Amino acid sequence: MESLDPLLEKRLAERRDKGLERTLKIARPGLVDFTSNDYLGLSRSPELFESILAHTSSPQPNGSTGSRLLSGNSAAHEALEKKLATIFKSETTLLFAAGYNANLAVLSSLPQRGDTILYDELAHASMKDGARLSLAKRLNFKHNDLHDLEQKLKNAQGQIFIAVESIYSMDGDECPLRELTLLAEKHNAIIILDEAHSTGVMGHNGNGLAVSLGLQDKIGVRIYTFGKAMGIHGACVAGSKRLRNYLINFSRPFIYTTAISHHSVATMACAFDYLQQNMPLQTMLRERIMLYTKSVADLPNRTFSNSAIQTVIFPGNEVVRQVALSLQQKGFDVRPILSPTVPTGTERLRICLHVYNTEEEIARLTHELRTLALSGVMNNG
Ligand SMILES: Cc1ncc(COP(=O)(O)O)c(C=O)c1O
Repeated sequence: MESLDPLLEKRLAERRDKGLERTLKIARPGLVDFTSNDYLGLSRSPELFESILAHTSSPQPNGSTGSRLLSGNSAAHEALEKKLATIFKSETTLLFAAGYNANLAVLSSLPQRGDTILYDELAHASMKDGARLSLAKRLNFKHNDLHDLEQKLKNAQGQIFIAVESIYSMDGDECPLRELTLLAEKHNAIIILDEAHSTGVMGHNGNGLAVSLGLQDKIGVRIYTFGKAMGIHGACVAGSKRLRNYLINFSRPFIYTTAISHHSVATMACAFDYLQQNMPLQTMLRERIMLYTKSVADLPNRTFSNSAIQTVIFPGNEVVRQVALSLQQKGFDVRPILSPTVPTGTERLRICLHVYNTEEEIARLTHELRTLALSGVMNNG
């Protein structure tokens, strides 16, 4: 321990000196939630809680006891995978404990040595980490820039994989999926689409962007996550029977881990049933988003987004930190996103909207944002 701690402290101190030390905080009670990913309010739904309780009350194994390839598989796991395949209009799905694991599983195992992974520069860390584990060459392209992507497609070698998200987690903007599928077709590239922030909030029964545009068959691999709008935890990969079979055979993050528990399986099934019975939640969320975007339409430095993720740029880590603090003191749970998580100069407040944010709360927040914008704080970074 004695020789380890000074080593760790040196690196932590470097971080601290740059003002970038991360610490865990417990959300202060009573603040209005403009930060969580619980867009549809499912994580706090008493009805969903009751439904999960009812479906997990009969005796069942407390844990799954092993990898899916050993003792961890069950009829319940496979039934849920079939149910999700119907929702996501895919031949099959394969369950994962989290979106992070699912992305790691896909990107580390599909692209091989000699292949190329082209990923959007703003793609989630889990896609980038998966790509790092693969032996393929990896290159990023400018965010949502199909021209830059095409230049890179022309020079790419081997089988090309394009990794993108439906809704980007930091800007809340949408991927130009239709145009992307045409480009991928032209260059014989396979699209890997992370639907983390569209699962639940877009499409029939929450089936996301690709299915709502009818593009599911043009996309090789789709990843859906359940820790955001579905209000619970977990993920699945949707695609062909062969894709599922391939991951079962070659994907180490699938093979070498304990299967999700029966409790988690039941929770996932209940969350999708609940959403199916409460589809007006999507409309309620859209109304909240429109209310917010209308009230900030004239605000300088807001990024353009139609999703539940909205941002206002306050350049400079210290500036954005102070802005977030002042809003927290006024009762809003909003968090700053600092560089290097986002590029320097684009440090921002990330504001997430939810069905349970009232009109009055949105009006108060946007009023405060406007006051801050007009006070000139944005230009002092
Ligand atoms: C775009 C995106 N993909 C994947 C993940 C990881 O999903 P999970 O939180 O289920 O591990 C996240 C969540 O942070 C995300 O925003």
